[in-house]
Amino acid sequence: MILNTELEYKGNLFPTKIIKYEKNLNVLSFTTENGVILEVTVRRDSILRFRFTTTGIFDNDFSYAITKYASRGYNHLEVTEDDDHYTITTSKLICNISKLDLRTSIYDAKDKSLICEDELGFHWEESYEFGGDVVKMSKTAQPGESYYGLGDKPVDNNLKGKRFENWVTDSYAYGRDTDPIYKTIPFYTALHNKKSYGIFFDNTFRSYFDFCHERRNISSFWAHGGEMNYYFIYGPDMSDVVMNYTDLTGKPHAMPALWALGYHQCKWSYYPESNVKEITAKFRELQIPCDAIYLDIDYMEGFRCFTWSKQYFPDPKRMVKELADDGFKTIVIIDPGIKIDMDYSVFKEGLEKDYFCKRADGPYMKGKVWPGECYFPDFTNPEVREWWADLFKELVEDIGVRGVWNDMNEPAVMDVPGKTFPNDVRHDYDGNQCSHRKAHNVYGMQMARATYQGLKKFSYPNRPFVITRAAYSGTQRYTSSWTGDNVATWDHLNIANLQAQRMCMSGFSFIGSDIGGFAEQPNGELYARWIQLGIFHPFCRTHSSGDHGDQEPWAFGTTITDVVRKFIELRYQLLPYLYTAFWKYAEEGIPILKSLVLYDQYDAQTHYRNDEFVFGEQILACPITGPNLKGRRMYIPIGKWFNFWTDEVVSGGQEIWVDADLDSMPIFVKEGAIIPKYPIQQYVGEKTVEELTLDVYYKEGNEISEVYEDATDGYDYIKGRYSLRNFKFQGKEKEIIIQQHKSGKYITTYKTFRLHFHGLPFKIKEIEIDNVIIPFEELRFKGGTSLKLTKEFTELHIIGE
Ligand code: GLC
Repeated sequence: MILNTELEYKGNLFPTKIIKYEKNLNVLSFTTENGVILEVTVRRDSILRFRFTTTGIFDNDFSYAITKYASRGYNHLEVTEDDDHYTITTSKLICNISKLDLRTSIYDAKDKSLICEDELGFHWEESYEFGGDVVKMSKTAQPGESYYGLGDKPVDNNLKGKRFENWVTDSYAYGRDTDPIYKTIPFYTALHNKKSYGIFFDNTFRSYFDFCHERRNISSFWAHGGEMNYYFIYGPDMSDVVMNYTDLTGKPHAMPALWALGYHQCKWSYYPESNVKEITAKFRELQIPCDAIYLDIDYMEGFRCFTWSKQYFPDPKRMVKELADDGFKTIVIIDPGIKIDMDYSVFKEGLEKDYFCKRADGPYMKGKVWPGECYFPDFTNPEVREWWADLFKELVEDIGVRGVWNDMNEPAVMDVPGKTFPNDVRHDYDGNQCSHRKAHNVYGMQMARATYQGLKKFSYPNRPFVITRAAYSGTQRYTSSWTGDNVATWDHLNIANLQAQRMCMSGFSFIGSDIGGFAEQPNGELYARWIQLGIFHPFCRTHSSGDHGDQEPWAFGTTITDVVRKFIELRYQLLPYLYTAFWKYAEEGIPILKSLVLYDQYDAQTHYRNDEFVFGEQILACPITGPNLKGRRMYIPIGKWFNFWTDEVVSGGQEIWVDADLDSMPIFVKEGAIIPKYPIQQYVGEKTVEELTLDVYYKEGNEISEVYEDATDGYDYIKGRYSLRNFKFQGKEKEIIIQQHKSGKYITTYKTFRLHFHGLPFKIKEIEIDNVIIPFEELRFKGGTSLKLTKEFTELHIIGE
């Protein structure tokens, strides 16, 4: 069998000429003489779905990736016909379909420029071994085209020149360029001539993407089964492409509780209870903020999920409560493998109810994981997901566990070729029975979904918190994720930076890495530099495998402890800023981290940048990625930026040197930004927020900033009990005007703002709050330039002299 798009096209079959065209509302179907049907669905003006069958009939249309909440609808749809083509026109796109062979070309409806064009277009090869087809698509690369996205690939941002495989794989100590690893997100964004589009190939079989690797001017993608089924998403702004993809595959179903954005401490493993307590006590003693403590597999009885080791954790409920009283949320690991043991209730029940995966000819799928030989629930069966969700009752409702960490859900199997199930294993696939070839890439996603359902049910009225290792497109609806078993090396710090950015531009923003590295041990400098990067990742957790020594913030001596504390404290100060960014992600699909190309695609300098990224909308960060450095060169995007530490203003559009001793890192704030800050707390909720600090960065001109807040947990925000402040900043030579628009019914605990000005070019003379003049001295805070004033204003004038 030919598994790629090899030049000689041996074995390839192609559609022939169109003999029938039908239109059913927004679904247009084109049938060829040799029985191929292309169905084009106009989902939105900028989103077209292309779906092909070679048998004259389509399978049941079912996808785990596409959310039922995705937006639909368009402003304009017209189909015309000439001698050579059918032409579909929407308000954003013009799509030509060749009558000769179904090849398509897509143009921008406004300026008629070519965006994306089939080369061979759809073609296929019959699969002798399994039946069905190997389905393939090839497109012509446009001049200067570059490619981004694709989930957790540990490679540079721009994917051009590379080929990738999608097959979720347990990848202990993977490295740069290891492929595939834990996640399958078959979505990429392309950019040429300043315009961007995306392609989401919604096919769960083993799939491949080739970005001008095999042939310099061709991009292609193909899968070992299933349908050629892809969504074309037009921008032309890359941020719109990513937002639209996220809308299609789903935004997080709930905001995370604010504590989940705090700092998390993990290790394989903290046990027994006395060890857990020692660790948590040390955090409080050293005053290093921390919200979550993790229990890895050793908390269980012989690695049996949903049990507790009597020896190490004799009274988990008491322990979890004591930890909670000290501000720590307990998070436990749950793997998919269920130990074969007739005296173990979860196993017995799974067996009785026939919930475990089976091989093609009937025997159970038996595989070795941590507990020894196991069976594995078929999470693609909705009944099994419900059962699994209910298994969390005791852990969550009775014992008080606040989050669950799903691991090994690729699914990983030890000591077998391929490290997973064999191809013939059967799955329900929500009533669309299939083999593991089709279900493999979604197995972990469905496990995380079932876990999320359980957490949602039993955590109520608190919000659920789940973390998963394996994922397919759409998994972001249910859970956060981490980048798996990385290594304590400088290159891995770089890789973590790339993976977090890449996941964010692949619709999955709640992501972080094992800070410091999972395998091997970092020295203090590497750990400190990694913490500096990690505080800017939406999910912020130190994790390591225990056999390589300690990896707590205090494990590397006091100098490092102080640096780590300083940065974790900064994370806690920035929580309202990060929470606002998360809200924009959950609400609109705006990625929390923006690679520079995503931030400003119109500046060609950004197309190959890897290290710098924008956190939220207005903070630029860049990690120090090597030893013994006292700074680095980095690219500053176009615009003016304040150095976070010195308030020095730099002009973007150039590379500059930035000083960054070990206790610092390059951080910049966009001019005009208003950055909200909370006081440092040891955990979320330790303190009642009595005052919101607003760091105001002067600009001659306008800028908008927002602050989203709510009760930090619970579901009242959905009913309108949130507080959204929109600040419109206008800076003039001797004056600043800040207009505040507040919406939502939540009343924040603080009554005042503390305004702290950066880069003010004038001395403050007087202040006008909603047209009432107040002498500066009355509002002045402790003789400095900061002001303390009511949160209730709608218009604030700062008048200078
Ligand atoms: C896997 C996970 C790792 C975990 C270990 C033991 O290697 O990726 O995070 O600590 O299993 O459960």
